[in-house]
Amino acid sequence: MRSYSLAAHAKINLYLEIIGDRPDGFHELAMVMQSVGLADRIHLEPLQNHEIRVTCDHPQVPSDESNLAYRAADLLRYTFPEAFKKYGGVEIQIQKQIPVGAGLAGGSANAAAVLVGLDLMWQLGLPQTELQQLGAKLGSDIPFCIAGGTAIATGRGEIISPLPSLDAASVVLAKHESLLVSTPQAYKAYREQFSETYVADPAEVGDRHHTVHSGPLVSAINRQDYAQIGELLHNDLEKVVLPLYPQVERLRDAMLQLEPFGAMMSGSGPTVFALAKSLEQAEHIKIQLGDRLSDPDLGIWVTQLVPTGVQLIP
Ligand code: C5P
Repeated sequence: MRSYSLAAHAKINLYLEIIGDRPDGFHELAMVMQSVGLADRIHLEPLQNHEIRVTCDHPQVPSDESNLAYRAADLLRYTFPEAFKKYGGVEIQIQKQIPVGAGLAGGSANAAAVLVGLDLMWQLGLPQTELQQLGAKLGSDIPFCIAGGTAIATGRGEIISPLPSLDAASVVLAKHESLLVSTPQAYKAYREQFSETYVADPAEVGDRHHTVHSGPLVSAINRQDYAQIGELLHNDLEKVVLPLYPQVERLRDAMLQLEPFGAMMSGSGPTVFALAKSLEQAEHIKIQLGDRLSDPDLGIWVTQLVPTGVQLIP
């Protein structure tokens, strides 16, 4: 049996609107998600024994059963016991490029790659929609991470409607390396401060989804109008995360001063991204941010928007 290597791409949110509470305890969302070139490499190596093992080159990533990549393999093992019995165990080797606890869905991307890779290794032949349904059991971002590209995500984030790909723009990502933001804490803080704005009526929730589907951001994406997309970036979680972490707001504002199409926090942060007008501008923003903020704790990456999620590496 052969081994498989996969690229697991990070995502940014071009739009994140919190609509209300859901009966399952999560939030009802309307988002526009976008894959970027920055990716972890996931290598799946068949094991003779019936074991699932995780190794990772990043000290903050657990190798035990709490790792989402482990849980993805475990879910497939229990869903398809015959295939597991036939093909045996697997070692999941994770080479981290995506910063951890960053709002870039690194853990979800890893789990997405495990689902796609084991589907091949165990010859399950599952359609992408079925892999996405399995992924949704483990995390809201996993269905998007499987397909990638540019898409609207509603519900918990697991209902994906693909949009035309945006793949002609460079992007700068920046994160204070030592700063981690807890996603549950960010949503909890939002609920504490903004629950009076929550929409409960299902018809009204449907209207909000519809407004995003037919709204100006999606129209700008359809036109590939990057200047307009930059103007329309929106993330409700900035309202609670930026006041808690002023250094994240300073980072975003420093990016905006360099006049990209737009700059915003991704997901629950603390990564901030700038949609650059060209690769040259992206490189310029990276150098300028490094000089102006002169903070050894700051990680800065230049990458680009990409039209794909998990990709098999030949
Ligand atoms: O689905 P995932 O495990 O990525 O979500 C992490 C946390 O973010 C959840 O436990 C929940 O606190 C919060 N969340 C939410 N509503 C969503 C997605 C995430 O409240 N739609």
